[in-house]
Amino acid sequence: MSEGRTAVITGGSRGIGAAIANRLARDGADIALIATKDSESARKTVESIRALGRKCEFFACNVADEAECSATAGAILEEFGSVDILVNNAGITNDKLMVQMKEDDFSKVLEVNLLGAYHMSKAFLRSFMRKKSGRIINISSVVGLMGNAGQTNYAASKAGLIGLTKSMAKEYAAKGITVNAIAPGYIETAMTGAMTDGAAEKILESIPLKRAGSPEDVANLAAFLAQDETSYITGEVIKVDGGMYI
Ligand code: NAI
Repeated sequence: MSEGRTAVITGGSRGIGAAIANRLARDGADIALIATKDSESARKTVESIRALGRKCEFFACNVADEAECSATAGAILEEFGSVDILVNNAGITNDKLMVQMKEDDFSKVLEVNLLGAYHMSKAFLRSFMRKKSGRIINISSVVGLMGNAGQTNYAASKAGLIGLTKSMAKEYAAKGITVNAIAPGYIETAMTGAMTDGAAEKILESIPLKRAGSPEDVANLAAFLAQDETSYITGEVIKVDGGMYI
């Protein structure tokens, strides 16, 4: 359970991030939600968490921007007093074959997905170190483990997150900070909703459980990794993929 703790969730306005925010709030955590900009979905997520009786505030921040991350972390620490859990979930795709991919298409995805996690983790590290405790959960992807044609930029960013997770886990274990990654497979959200029916069907066929995962499937694992009881798990990459990559 996360009773009396504060969790920061990047990309928390919708999809997997919103499900994680709701699940951690149900477990008793107060929530700081981050997304690029305020939106209808962000407001709905904030309302649903407040309806659970938890404190929830929204912070607009582009995780690709180091100065914005540092200022936002400062504002969150001031508002909530302290932070216990950081979920680096914000992510984007820009799928193209490599021959058609401009450098900007490649680097923008890395800036949000990989540098974003670096910026936010760094912004909270000192406060975690002072408390000698902290949970960082990075949302990677099975694509970071298995690769995917058309997603060289995205797969590189998600594989990079795994290296970041393992290295940070080693670097900050002595400070009581655990760092783990979740590698979701095919989860039904706006990100996958953009796929054509044919492409989605092909993926579903390749999944042993023969169905897409839900954002709640990922949120259940995030809640498990955020608990006090799982403090001996660090540097792990755990798949939530219905067996897609065995
Ligand atoms: P989504 O597109 O529904 O939500 C993404 C969230 O990230 C939104 O709240 C958006 O505002 C936020 N965001 C995007 N760029 C940002 C930026 N620069 N700064 C701050 N916030 C930003 O995506 P979904 O599907 O919920 O994915 C969440 C995470 O899970 C992503 O990291 C994604 O790569 C990962 N993932 C998703 C899978 C899926 O099948 N949906 C599979 C594997 C991983």
